Amino acid sequence: MSIIHADGITKVFNPRKKNAAVTALSNLSLDVREGEIFGLLGPNGAGKTTFIKVLLEIVFPTAGSAELLGAPIGNAAAKARVGYLPENHRYPDFLTGAQVLRYFGRLSGLAGNALEQRVTDRLKLVDMADWHKTKIRKYSKGMMQRIGLAQALINDPQLVVLDEPTDGVDPLGRKEIRDLLVRLRDEGKTVFLNSHLLSEVEMICDRVAILNKGKLIRIGTVPELTTQDDVYHVGVEGTVPAALLTEWEATRVRATQEGDVLSLGVEDAAALNAAIDRLRAHGVLITSISRKRQSLEDMFIDVISREAEA
Ligand SMILES: Nc1ncnc2c1ncn2[C@@H]1O[C@H](COP(=O)(O)OP(=O)(O)OP(=O)(O)O)[C@@H](O)[C@H]1O
Ligand SMILES: [Mg+2]
Repeated sequence: MSIIHADGITKVFNPRKKNAAVTALSNLSLDVREGEIFGLLGPNGAGKTTFIKVLLEIVFPTAGSAELLGAPIGNAAAKARVGYLPENHRYPDFLTGAQVLRYFGRLSGLAGNALEQRVTDRLKLVDMADWHKTKIRKYSKGMMQRIGLAQALINDPQLVVLDEPTDGVDPLGRKEIRDLLVRLRDEGKTVFLNSHLLSEVEMICDRVAILNKGKLIRIGTVPELTTQDDVYHVGVEGTVPAALLTEWEATRVRATQEGDVLSLGVEDAAALNAAIDRLRAHGVLITSISRKRQSLEDMFIDVISREAEA
């Protein structure tokens, strides 16, 4: 079942102001499946936050429609089963962490013992139990983010929507948050997150989508998106003859040498072997060969810069 289903969402801010109109989302369609961690990536201003706001009916789409937990967006019963961590959230800073959680807990219908238990549990979950009596104003950025995360989980949501959940959190804290998100998924919950931290997204997301200037340009699992090209790193002794590099330029072999590593972009293993034969024919000594998997970050930079050129 699709937990999030978006169908041709377009959002234009200030549509009537000729010079100020901004198309933040352009005909965006995507599905997030039950029980997955889904990452929405994209450069600053790509429309990631706007997409979340459309789903939660904080802004209205200019065109298109969407469903959340099987109901049209705006459905109150469905929204009650969603947890949301906004980007740059600000809670009243005269409240303590526990008071903020109690406030949001009450908003979601909890009261009495159940409320107290949930607050205690969520504080523990984000490792903020020792800070529950401290006012928000004294929190560091990372602590703010942890309390925000606890807030997003206060109603035991089925779908958790997180806008940059690890923003400002130190490496250890980020690892804890990643582990927490994986645990939520293992409990059957669906996690939708926006992030810039591609190495992190790569570690935990089941599927990712890349948004650029409001348009969806890639969607798939991390391996699907990162193994499009076969690139091999060949350790060589000495310099690859210029004649061979010229020969390759005329073919589909993309070769670049940096020190004693020759990087070969080839179509398949047969092409790799043919390239190796040519190297050996030129008397180049080979010391190692390894296949280099493209990281999500390599792929991201690659597609975004190609889009910019186009
Ligand atoms: N209320 C608004 N009025 C006018 N333009 C807006 C509004 N909100 C967002 N925009 C514009 O819409 C575009 C998308 O913004 P959005 O915040 O969704 O990007 P984002 O992908 O979340 O970026 P970031 O990575 O910086 O958080 C930007 O050009 C932004 O300036
Ligand atoms: Mg944003």
